[in-house]
Parts: sequence; C-alpha cells; structure tokens
Amino acid sequence: MDWFASKINTWQKAHGRHDLPWQQNISAYRVWLSEIMLQQTQVETVKPYFIRFLEKYPEISELARASTDDVLALWTGLGYYNRARNLHKTSIIIHKDYQGAFPSCLDRLTELPGIGRSTAGAILALSMGKRGVILDGNVKRVLSRFHLIEGYLEERTTTDELWRHADRHTPAIETNVYTQGIMDLGATICKRSAPACSECPLVNRCGAHQHNLAAQIPRRKPKRKKPVKDSLFFIICNEDKEVIVEKRAESGVWAGLWSPLERCKEYSLDQILEELDLHEDSVLNIATESPIKHSFTHFQIKATPIYVRVRSSACSEFGAGFRWVNSDMIRKKRVDVGMSALALKLINNGPLG
Ligand code: ADE
Repeated sequence: MDWFASKINTWQKAHGRHDLPWQQNISAYRVWLSEIMLQQTQVETVKPYFIRFLEKYPEISELARASTDDVLALWTGLGYYNRARNLHKTSIIIHKDYQGAFPSCLDRLTELPGIGRSTAGAILALSMGKRGVILDGNVKRVLSRFHLIEGYLEERTTTDELWRHADRHTPAIETNVYTQGIMDLGATICKRSAPACSECPLVNRCGAHQHNLAAQIPRRKPKRKKPVKDSLFFIICNEDKEVIVEKRAESGVWAGLWSPLERCKEYSLDQILEELDLHEDSVLNIATESPIKHSFTHFQIKATPIYVRVRSSACSEFGAGFRWVNSDMIRKKRVDVGMSALALKLINNGPLG
C-alpha cells in the first residue's frame, strides 16, 4: 500500500463514515442501489429513498418483477430518472441471466445498464472484497488537488490522468476501507469550497495546498448559459385536494413520469378546459403565481404555475394519460406514480389547498 492509501485508510478507520445505511448488511444489491442513487445526489437526500426502496424491494428478484411505473414512483423527487429505468433493466438481467447474483468482474459489470467503470469499481470494492477502482466527483477533487492537476475536468486527457492516479493508489488489500475513505475525505474534508486542509491526512504532500491553489482546483470549463424553456403549468385541483396529472411522453427528461399539465406560453385556460371536457362553470377560482426556475443538465425551465380549482362533481372521466392524484399523498411522498421534483414543488406550493 503506498503512502497515499495508507494515510487514507488510517484516516477512514478513525474519522470516516461507518453508519451509512448501505454500510450495514452489505450486499452487492444494496451497494449497487446506493451507488446509483448517490450519483449526482447528496447522501442526506438519498438515505430515506434508499430505506424506502429496500422496504418495498428487499431482494433484487422483487425489483425485477416490479413494473417500471412502480419503480419510478419510488424514485419520485430524486431526479435523473434514467437511473431508475436502468436500475430496473439491470435487475431483470441479473435475475434472468445471472440467477440473481451480480457478476464479480469489471467487464461483466460494466455491460449492465447504468453501471459505468466507477460504479462497477465501487461494487467490487465495497461489496465483494475485491480490488475495484473508483473515480467519482469526490475522488476527482481529492486526486486533482493532491497531484496538482490543472486541466479542465471536462477534458479527456484530464480524466485519463485521474484514472491513472486512481488506479495506481488503489491498494490490493483493504480496498473497501480505501474506497469509502477517499469518498468520505472528499465529502467531509476536501470539500469543493472551504476545504478543511488542516484536518487532512494528505496535507503534507498535497500539491494544491503547497501552491495555495485548493480553491482553484479542480478546474471546470466556464459554463455556457443554458437555454430557457418558458412554459405554463396548469395545476387543476378539485375540492377533495386531488390534482389532475398527465403522463409524459416516453422521451425527454421526464419520460414516463406524471406531471401537472405543461403547455406552451400561448395556451389559454379555455383550451385546457376543452381538452379535459370541463365546463367553465365548474371553475371555482384561478390563481397565477410567479414563475419557478428549474435546471436540467442542458436547459432550464421557467414554469409559470396557474392554479385552477374546479368543483369535485365537474369531472371524473377523461382520456387515458390523465388521472387524479391526492395532494396529501404527494406531500407525504406516498404517490403510486412517478413524478418529477418540479411537479411535486408545483403541487405542494399551491395556494388552493
Ligand atoms: N458517494 C458515492 N458512494 C458513496 C458511499 N458509498 N458513501 C458515501 N458517499 C458516496
């Protein structure tokens, strides 16, 4: 084990995290699920989702037998829904082709939907006692600071260099301790802003610290402004606190999820009423609120919510692709369909009660 790894491992045993839900009753299924949820998502956000998910699907065979809609429902609010779709696809492959047991080699793991080189490395190291190499956002930060790598993270040459360092430092023994340790160090000490260098076990040999460059590394390319999509969202609820949602098309950021009715800026309430076969006499009140901005990887949405309350007696039947959901159930995260974080926010923030 080199100096870097031995420092990390000693630090992990004394100061790293040991009580995260996925560190208990360790199995490949649980580690895989946690790694997928933790991509682009904070630990504190993931914890309750992880627990709920395992309550419903304690074994991968149960997940494999579920419907995609049920899996998306459990993912509601977590974002990046392709993760849930790929998770479900992989569970079916593991159940059918591998008799429920994850393969224990890198090449087989990375063939599975949603499992890249780093996630595969984490599964090998954290759940199988094997040597696996990881390079997630936290690890990139630790390595690029330590080795004073000044190239942009978005560039291939930079990530190639980081992978070489990641591979070189990863020890053949206690790989699990090292893997959790370097992630924990990145999350709690070598933080993006205000890193706690005085508490870092690597500080004596850290290139960025020696050159006073920790705040500038890792470097990221200046971001281009994202295009803004300007939309109206009609949040139509009745006197029983139910809201009309529609199923989104099977492509795009919210593929297959349910959401209040999104329409272009030129759309009118009359058009919506006609679409739903609702008479204008059934409308009790209307409130337009200030727009909410919501960011995706490649664009932003400027969502203007229009809250419309209608009589409960007004409509019960409308076309396939529309349905009522209970807003109390949404507040309690107990919906039985998948919904985006923005859909939840629009419904929960509503003034109509
Ligand atoms: N991020 C990715 N994997 C993690 C893990 N096992 N523990 C904490 N944060 C993580």
